[in-house]
Amino acid sequence: MIVFDETRKLFHLKTRHTSYVMDIVDGGWLRHLYWGATLEDWHGAACMPMMDRSFAANPAGTPQDRRFSLDTTAQEYPAHGNSDMREPAVRVASADGARISDLRFISYRIGKGKSHMEGLPSIYVNEDDEAETLDILLRDDLTGLEANLSYSILGDSDAIMRSVRFTNRGKESVTLEQAMSASLDLGGIAGFEALYLPGAWSRERHVERSPLGHYRHVVESRRGASSHQENPFLALLAPDTDETHGQVYAMSLIYSGSFQAFAEVDQFDVTRMAIGLNPFDFSWELAPGEAFQTPEAVLLYTDEGLGQMSRSFHALFRKHLLREPWCDTERPILVNNWEATYFNFDEEKLCHLIDTASDFGMELMVLDDGWFGHRNGDDSSLGDWVEDRAKLPHGLACIADHAKERGIQFGLWFEPEMVSRDSRLYREHSDWVLSAPGRPLTEGRGQYVLDLTRPCVQDYVIEAVASVLKRVSISYVKWDMNRHMTEVYTASLPARRQKETAHRYMLGLYRVLESLHEMFPEVLFESCSGGGGRFDPGMLYYMPQTWASDDSDAVERLAIQYGTSLVYPPQAMGAHVSAVPNHQTGRCEPMATRVLVAMAGTFGYELDITTFSEEERQEVREHIALFKELRSLLFSGELYRLLVPEHHGDAVSWMMVSKDKTHAFLSYVQLLATPNPPHRFLHLQGLDPHRQYRLFERLTTAAEHFPQVPANWPDHSFADGAVFGGDELMRAGIWLPVLMGDYQSFGWELKAVEADEFQEGQEGAGLR
Ligand code: GLA
Repeated sequence: MIVFDETRKLFHLKTRHTSYVMDIVDGGWLRHLYWGATLEDWHGAACMPMMDRSFAANPAGTPQDRRFSLDTTAQEYPAHGNSDMREPAVRVASADGARISDLRFISYRIGKGKSHMEGLPSIYVNEDDEAETLDILLRDDLTGLEANLSYSILGDSDAIMRSVRFTNRGKESVTLEQAMSASLDLGGIAGFEALYLPGAWSRERHVERSPLGHYRHVVESRRGASSHQENPFLALLAPDTDETHGQVYAMSLIYSGSFQAFAEVDQFDVTRMAIGLNPFDFSWELAPGEAFQTPEAVLLYTDEGLGQMSRSFHALFRKHLLREPWCDTERPILVNNWEATYFNFDEEKLCHLIDTASDFGMELMVLDDGWFGHRNGDDSSLGDWVEDRAKLPHGLACIADHAKERGIQFGLWFEPEMVSRDSRLYREHSDWVLSAPGRPLTEGRGQYVLDLTRPCVQDYVIEAVASVLKRVSISYVKWDMNRHMTEVYTASLPARRQKETAHRYMLGLYRVLESLHEMFPEVLFESCSGGGGRFDPGMLYYMPQTWASDDSDAVERLAIQYGTSLVYPPQAMGAHVSAVPNHQTGRCEPMATRVLVAMAGTFGYELDITTFSEEERQEVREHIALFKELRSLLFSGELYRLLVPEHHGDAVSWMMVSKDKTHAFLSYVQLLATPNPPHRFLHLQGLDPHRQYRLFERLTTAAEHFPQVPANWPDHSFADGAVFGGDELMRAGIWLPVLMGDYQSFGWELKAVEADEFQEGQEGAGLR
């Protein structure tokens, strides 16, 4: 519900469990008052009073009052240049070179629904009844620049979506130099911590948490992609916040290019938190009458810890970001040939993989890099999206047909945003790449970035991919992007507008992706950028899943998937079982552990399945049958993290629980074994305390030739078949079996039982 109190000039947005309050102060500036747990009403108990502070300048105009400074006012969308010395949300250069703006309230509108953001990914609703939107119009009188601040809330979420649309209603051009999507000033959270997701290629989204000080804590990408190095997400947490308790203020940006998020604690312990396009190397010229739309930010508050924050993001993204039909379509079990063959494959090898996959019950065979041009390494052919007849003498269609005959689908890898120097495309259109006059071209993985700011290049990319998808029966596309932007310059813009290039690239990419989505809505697209280099909500809008990392090692994945799961739903996280020794780390984990970790995501295989021993084949068949049994729970359930990598060095554990709480699957992975271990208890989450659950051991490494626990100790299956109360599993916990050997694991299924079954279960398991 969104209400405006005319007398107090006060806006109050109420989501299911939160309130967001702001008002218009004398003079017309928009002030932030409160964001947190639901309030019936706002009476101003926590309103920061105006005080005459030294070195706090007073803006011209009403009120001519030394107690009023924008520098000491909690603001909602602060502008640069007239008394607020903190980092602004917006900085605009007018035609005379001044960089001052003064945005004051003009009008507001509250209405049902949420409008579609033209050309940008965003949270969507199917019916107007699902959302409510508040638009607040601010204007800078001198330049005529208008800023429409948009706030949307949904009936089924605590999220608040914010974005800004600028329109130049003046007579001269202005240039936006900074235009954040959301900003707000929070009192009373000094001493909070920042949580963010830094990383590197193959080590993406490792959770980091650090105290906020009196400085600006910045999380950003300047790479032309959301990047492996940071993620467009920032949360501020009370220091005692953990998975199940504590306050969290989170912001996520629905964007895939260079972004910035920051938290700045000021001299009076007010924290400014903002997210949006990275102002670094950005500007946007607005001629009279032109408009600019910022990407959309998602704001989430909870006082129930990180677990609840994640479940709220997951629910929102699954229902209102992933597009139909993929928001509620379960994903096929795939096998990808990359780590199985790299570039070294031929028709016979692929058919063998397909036959084996089909025999195992897999459902989709993905042909990765190397099928086109003459690509036998990573130094050629990007841009030439025609099959290499040396490897595939009968073409792609023959492979796709073979898959169809074996009852499985066929998928294909593309890297459409790039071109290799050694390619026909580059020979014919060397001017189609991002490049600056007179500057030599920087290569990354031996390739250049196509200039997607240009419609002709966008059209080429759409046509190149579409022609393959029309010609061959393909049900899945892996869309890769393997370098970041350099020489960010486009021949399509005049000198003064060059800082628009990186964002125009993203708009061009989004146009390409939207066109392909419209043409092939039934094709499952998986986004990839050297693994998880573009794991962001922007890409998820067009492609419902992202390959989480090129690091397929199960133990490394525990950290990567944990960080990823803070924001992104398991259904969107590409995860595969890969070979041992692992190709990135050399580590060896038991097969069941690799399976359990991959089952936390979309689940597939990426290793040479044709070389399995008979025993391994049997095991794989069993794992696949198990996944199929659990698939709908894993796909539609809710995630509860029990032991997370950062706090529990020796084990990681998580659960998926069905919404009605009658069915759950618990995963537990031990890292290093402890000799003569102390007793440990695992406290489950998400169950119904009033129900009983029967426990089934479904997956264990115990069978995999690891040393067994001493014969007279209880083993993994100590509780198999037993019935326990949801209350005791959550409050008292369950005794953790001793696991011998590193990287051991188990997976337990829990099914709610009817009351009369309870007695029987206890007796059966000998636990009375
Ligand atoms: C990237 C991807 C990999 C694989 C290779 C192919 O690194 O992340 O999964 O597709 O490219 O070159």
